[in-house]
Amino acid sequence: MTAPRILLIIGGGIAAYKAIELVRLLRKSGYVVRCVLTRAGEQFVTPLTLAALSENKVYTNLFDLKDEVEMGHIQLSREADLVVVAPATADLLAKMAAGIADDMATTLLLATDKPVLAAPAMNVRMWLHPATRRNVATLRGDGVTVMEPDEGEMACGEYGPGRLPEPAAIKGAIDKALKEAPPPIPLTGQPDFAPANHRPLFGRRILITAGPTHEPIDPVRYIANRSSGKQGFAIAAAAAEAGAEVLLIAGPVELPTPPGVIRIDVETAREMAAEVEAGLPVDAAIMVAAVADWRAADTATQKIKKDGSGAVPPLALAENPDILASVAKSAQRPPLLIGFAAETNDVIAHAEAKLARKGCDWIVANDVSADPMGGETNRVHIVSKGGVDSWDRLPKAAVARKLMEKIADELEVRSPVQTD
Ligand code: C5P
Repeated sequence: MTAPRILLIIGGGIAAYKAIELVRLLRKSGYVVRCVLTRAGEQFVTPLTLAALSENKVYTNLFDLKDEVEMGHIQLSREADLVVVAPATADLLAKMAAGIADDMATTLLLATDKPVLAAPAMNVRMWLHPATRRNVATLRGDGVTVMEPDEGEMACGEYGPGRLPEPAAIKGAIDKALKEAPPPIPLTGQPDFAPANHRPLFGRRILITAGPTHEPIDPVRYIANRSSGKQGFAIAAAAAEAGAEVLLIAGPVELPTPPGVIRIDVETAREMAAEVEAGLPVDAAIMVAAVADWRAADTATQKIKKDGSGAVPPLALAENPDILASVAKSAQRPPLLIGFAAETNDVIAHAEAKLARKGCDWIVANDVSADPMGGETNRVHIVSKGGVDSWDRLPKAAVARKLMEKIADELEVRSPVQTD
């Protein structure tokens, strides 16, 4: 079962500090928590505290363009299983009841198709005011679960109902709401923004190398490996579909850039190594490229001529950097480092040896004995220290999607890397 996803909207009020404890409780139970802080909420708790505790990005401003590119507010409001507003101030409840959407929090609340639970906190008179009574009744009528606030002494010194329920009680209400939540009413003919595991790699940065490298001998000749780049490009496409920020470092191939992927074209292994290094840190690196092991020690500046004597020009080779092995040793080694190995025999034994030699976490070993490179399908074995996961022969796009699921599971327990 996947962990429940909570979108927690934190309103402004002295009780906002209790939201911190709520995040801690939810994370302790393994829930995925994404926090949205209203402008007023920011006066009481910091995005940094919430990011650290939720181990997730905190959203504060509707018009943050970068966020809209990464994940639009519509999607953010729908990828959760439950939207929780705590503390729900009188102002937030009023806006919710009126359908006002003038900032990130209220826009998400209006756009969501998920159940909403509000835990109010405000001064006793504000809670008892006819306007708030009306708003609460409207919200309940609309299907929002509005908890009863606790009764007691308030921060302002007055006494009565209006205190934010204790975090444990809110957690209890969350569990109840999750159990009882009706499925959202589908709008017909709409794009599907958020099926349950829509974008399991959202917030993750993934680097992929793909294709061959070309190592020039002279201006017209080169050393290369036989690689179509199809599997690497399919992996980049699947990673972007799964919500990751994808950096694809591609050798010379004639393939279109998959949607949403940032592509950097390179020619040689050394160029590829430099771009990979510049692309770190990432949450996962998948080295699919068939990098040429050697390059010409000297590249002739002019075309080497046949002189008719039958003499063969000497071709001295130099070893190329092993990109995968050096990333494994680098200070910025990604938490998940994956290599590929095309083998024709003893696939698993070779992959196990490569895993140790390269210092990566997984080797995706593909058996190229039956289907030469450039084909449309792949039969792979994921070899790790933990064992071997062998998959049936599948189209390359299906291999890519399955690999993304496995990567998402692996990364779920880790915090995203910080890039700035
Ligand atoms: O050593 P071999 O080429 O068989 O290893 C394959 C794996 O290592 C692939 O993941 C490939 O992308 C990576 N590799 C690399 N740099 C090299 C050679 C291979 O990153 N120079």
